[in-house]
Amino acid sequence: MATPSLSWFCFVILLCSAAAEALEGSFSVELIHRDSPKSPFYVPSETPFQRAGKAVRRSIARVRGIRSNDKGEPSAGITRIDADYLINITIGTPPVSIVAIADTGSNLIWTQSPPCDHCFPQEKPLFNPRESSTCAEVDCNSDECHLFDRTNCASQGSTCQYSVSYGDKLSSVGNISTDIIGLSTLTGSAVTFPGMVFGCGFNNRGPFSTHTSGVVGLGPGDASLVSQIGGNEGSHFAYCLVPFFSTGKYTSKLTFGSDALLSGDGIVTTPLIIDSDTLYYHMTLEGISINGKKFEVSGSSEDDDITGNMIIDSGTTLTWLPSDLYRQIEPEVSAAIDLPRAKDPIEGYNLCYESSGVLKGAPSITIHFTGADVVLNWYNAFFQVKENITCFSFVPTGGQPMYGNLAQMDFMISYDLDLFTLSFKPYDCAN
Ligand SMILES: *[C@@H]1O[C@H](CO)[C@@H](O)[C@H](O)[C@H]1NC(C)=O
Ligand SMILES: *[C@@H]1O[C@H](CO)[C@@H](O)[C@H](O)[C@H]1NC(C)=O
Ligand SMILES: *[C@@H]1O[C@H](CO)[C@@H](O)[C@H](O)[C@H]1NC(C)=O
Repeated sequence: MATPSLSWFCFVILLCSAAAEALEGSFSVELIHRDSPKSPFYVPSETPFQRAGKAVRRSIARVRGIRSNDKGEPSAGITRIDADYLINITIGTPPVSIVAIADTGSNLIWTQSPPCDHCFPQEKPLFNPRESSTCAEVDCNSDECHLFDRTNCASQGSTCQYSVSYGDKLSSVGNISTDIIGLSTLTGSAVTFPGMVFGCGFNNRGPFSTHTSGVVGLGPGDASLVSQIGGNEGSHFAYCLVPFFSTGKYTSKLTFGSDALLSGDGIVTTPLIIDSDTLYYHMTLEGISINGKKFEVSGSSEDDDITGNMIIDSGTTLTWLPSDLYRQIEPEVSAAIDLPRAKDPIEGYNLCYESSGVLKGAPSITIHFTGADVVLNWYNAFFQVKENITCFSFVPTGGQPMYGNLAQMDFMISYDLDLFTLSFKPYDCAN
């Protein structure tokens, strides 16, 4: 068989295999925790607790706002892109592998591309759109161009450009293109999606790590990976994050298709609210129960609108509570735990104890979202950050409250972007 038809044939097979998996309804890919052995960030000499400490510091950096409120608490609001999970994708024909930051707080998929005005050093080869036979630039007049909010079209008919920034310092500017994006599934097969819209970044600024070569936005906007795949597979996805100290042994997963819709017992569902910038997934936190005693978010019994008051973010480690609510629950948590208090080794925490392993006397904690009571495991709220120190990983913020990834571990969390619901099911994610 002649080479051209062979490659044409393979191309068809790839599309066919994607279609076949799509018909079967589901596939899962790995979400790589950045401190796990499969991550390029992995430092073998670090102890698990050093990694835990780094995750907390990252979380604080990710949310520490430019402004603080008058009580000196950090005002949450994501200002950094160094999220906790990575995702591998391929782009183009032949496929080029990209290790990207998986970010639920943004929508674009982009990678660095030559010719660069300014590219940060990256370990993996650059994706060159000219070397991909399936890559096409997007015209300013096309629908694809309008998937992006911040597009820049110098003149009608010219190449559609994007510009995205993550806080003060990090940004990427480039051309919008379309090409095949491939994912390798946990069953070992490849799924490919032709005609995916993404950015070829030629002006990328800020302290991006050399270990990654771009960002995969998992946000609610039309250009995100989940929305673009969702267009084919039904607009829903789910993920299951394995507990922090098991990330080396087990795989956290991101699931598309029918398996992303939960079934069985123990499912609770709350409305999913998308902000007008379509950047974040919000839900409504009404209160928290500690050992059965309920504390409400202030405003929930008055006329104040608390709808959508909390962001769910897979990229940040800690959970940031409205300071009023935090102040109510802290004494209750501390009264429940009869262990010697320890000095916070990280300076981000309020409550730390001398304890290692299972925390003795950890109170039972239920998070009350509208319509959904999520009953936590002790390790969703307490995190060991040193040999003998475990801290309460819920902290107060004067800014945007966020539901971080420690609180989400060992839950299958399903996002339905058609019905605008978010469902939680307790799950052994290592299984
Ligand atoms: C992701 O890609 C990197 C670099 O190509 C590779 O080392 C790593 O094993 C991949 N991880 C997974 C889970 O596929
Ligand atoms: C961006 O588009 C312009 C105009 O088509 C082209 O000259 C340039 O090479 C493109 N750059 C990238 C990185 O795709
Ligand atoms: C941990 O703290 C407890 C309580 O103070 C103490 O009894 C124990 O010796 C400490 N263990 C280590 C390894 O430091």
